Amino acid sequence: LRNRKMSSNHLSHIESMSQAPSGAGKISQLNAVILGESLASEENDLVFPSKEFSAQALVSSPQQYVEMYKRSIDDPAGFWSDIASQFYWNQKWGDQVFSENLDVRKGPIQIEWFKGGITNICYNCLDKNVEAGLGDKTAIYWEGNEPGVGASSTYSELLQQVCQLANYLKDVGVKKGDAVVIYLPMLMELPIAMLACARIGAVHSVVFAGFSADSLAQRIIDCKPKVILTCNAVKRGPKTINLKSIVDAALDLSSKDGVSVGICLTYENASAETRENTKWKNGRDVWWQDVVPKYPTSCEVEWVDAEDPLFLLYTSGSTGKPKGVLHTTGGYMVYTATTFKYAFDYKSTDVYWCTADCGWITGHSYVTYGPMLNGATVVVFEGAPNYPDSGRCWEIVDKYKISIFYTAPTLVRSLMRDDDKYVTRHSRKSLRVLGSVGEPINPSAWRWFFNLVGDSKCPISDTWWQTETGGFMITPLPGAWPQKPGSATFPFFGVQPVIVDEKGNEIEGECSGYLCVKGSWPGAFRTLFGDHERYETTYFKPFEGYYFSGDGCSRDKDGYYWLTGRVDDVINVSGHRIGTAEVESALASHPQCAEAAVVGVEHEVKGQGIYAFVTLVEGVPYSEELRKSLVFMVRNQIGAFAAPDRIHWAPGLPKTRSGKIMRRILRKIASRQLEELGDISTLADPSVVDQLIALADV
Ligand code: PRX
Repeated sequence: LRNRKMSSNHLSHIESMSQAPSGAGKISQLNAVILGESLASEENDLVFPSKEFSAQALVSSPQQYVEMYKRSIDDPAGFWSDIASQFYWNQKWGDQVFSENLDVRKGPIQIEWFKGGITNICYNCLDKNVEAGLGDKTAIYWEGNEPGVGASSTYSELLQQVCQLANYLKDVGVKKGDAVVIYLPMLMELPIAMLACARIGAVHSVVFAGFSADSLAQRIIDCKPKVILTCNAVKRGPKTINLKSIVDAALDLSSKDGVSVGICLTYENASAETRENTKWKNGRDVWWQDVVPKYPTSCEVEWVDAEDPLFLLYTSGSTGKPKGVLHTTGGYMVYTATTFKYAFDYKSTDVYWCTADCGWITGHSYVTYGPMLNGATVVVFEGAPNYPDSGRCWEIVDKYKISIFYTAPTLVRSLMRDDDKYVTRHSRKSLRVLGSVGEPINPSAWRWFFNLVGDSKCPISDTWWQTETGGFMITPLPGAWPQKPGSATFPFFGVQPVIVDEKGNEIEGECSGYLCVKGSWPGAFRTLFGDHERYETTYFKPFEGYYFSGDGCSRDKDGYYWLTGRVDDVINVSGHRIGTAEVESALASHPQCAEAAVVGVEHEVKGQGIYAFVTLVEGVPYSEELRKSLVFMVRNQIGAFAAPDRIHWAPGLPKTRSGKIMRRILRKIASRQLEELGDISTLADPSVVDQLIALADV
């Protein structure tokens, strides 16, 4: 196992600060934490956990973290096998806890954890908890779109519900290794569906129910599921969305491509739509409620190898086609459970709510698997967080006495725009820990979240991670060290972040550059479904020897990490990852669009907005109608969340002589930083820049 030597970039600071204060007088910042003194000031911008919080925290001091972190790097096999032993394994893994090759120069990229270990993640989420006496504990509180509508399941009930669906799936021929697509909103049935697949060794691929028929079809064609699970409709805020008709269209499209899905199991979401109004294809479509409850409430577990696939989740990259990120069972299980426990300082009395949808990785790792592996009580919310008004989240917090609340900066920013009374009229006194994910949280949103929502007493875990990483990579451990608003702080156990320059050289100390990771961790994805070459090219070739995250990052003098956003052609809109190439190809498929180039621009609420430069086919005039139909094209091909915020008419695009679009210039024009256009002399036709500027407000 090569190159696992520890990089000392952040430890040196924590370590040096954890010595007793020298007689010289000046107490270092971290000594202050250790001594329990609050030295927070504008100058050093440190926000300290209270003494009471630290005293009860799982990791309560920098020293404890340093000790555990060092062991995780010096002896990863020992560190992770000790943790893994706390799960149920039908058979223990082989002699080697993990094996890895992360260097393309040394052969194919390969990562394995707990190989030979036989387990089942559904068993560990449900049966194990029931056997441990948690059967009567609430597993899920489900809160419907309309206030007052809700349901709940205990761990025993959830196990039975999962078993019934698992039995149905087995009965219709779904076997270990088969793909099942899940296109469901945040009903209780969504985690149930994921767990049922896992129970029988089927590979789920959840598609966010905001994706269009085209996007859903693309994913179906790629993974060829035997069954698709959906519901007839859903209400989000005041709007009804007819999901079944989107699925119908997607199934038509995929069968034209030669992929036909035998069964469409449809949950009747009666609060949104009636059976009578739901279009139906006999022979293929089956009402969930007509069949699933008839099946036995126990179902034998399919034991799988730690390295057998658990799920596929498609995510955007810098080229058009979405990537099927593949996670396997054992390492993912150990990693999501452990990160959940430490980053949220989880206690068995906590009630936990993550506002993410299970259609994204956050919902996989931190709505379903991570919390349930810990036997946590999880809130699942169907609706929109500002419906019927901006106080809904805090109403839900009070209703279920939520103690850990995990959300995205975009939601914080949007709620922040409304009157504080929407927050303050609810008590929120149950809150203990807050969390943030999806994009960098700007310090002003951080402070509003911390001061107002958390009454200045709840640490914020600003968790940096990705679909690919499976779980948290850089995150505060609440109670262990002071936070800096906007910094994800320090790496989780076993994670070795490195910052490299353009040539791939590691930079030490205070610096900025590209964020990479050295060595593997149990939750890492193992491949891109059906395209291992793209996996290697995208993630392991840009900086040989490392996993490349696609993010820029800086490290400050105290060793804190600050994520600065994507450095590739991916835009982060409201925490959703959108490839510019995907939006461009949707726009270019409009018959009147000759060419399109898409860039991200700063957006007050969404973090980044989508700004599209569009060149029309010769002779076609600009019009408001055309603008709308271009936006419609994107909604139709990807989903409403990817709709451009702005269409900028472009007689031409700035290109180099070899035909490459210079996005740097487009970004400057989009953000109106016209004095910073830089050198435009290398353009094939520099006059396009003036033409674009002239059309900026058209
Ligand atoms: O740019 C980073 C940003 O979200 C990207 C990963 O997106 P996705 O795979 O969709 O997963 C989102 C949820 C994990 C990253 O490359 N990102 C995520 N969390 C943070 C973040 N940027 C800054 N701070 C974060 N806490």
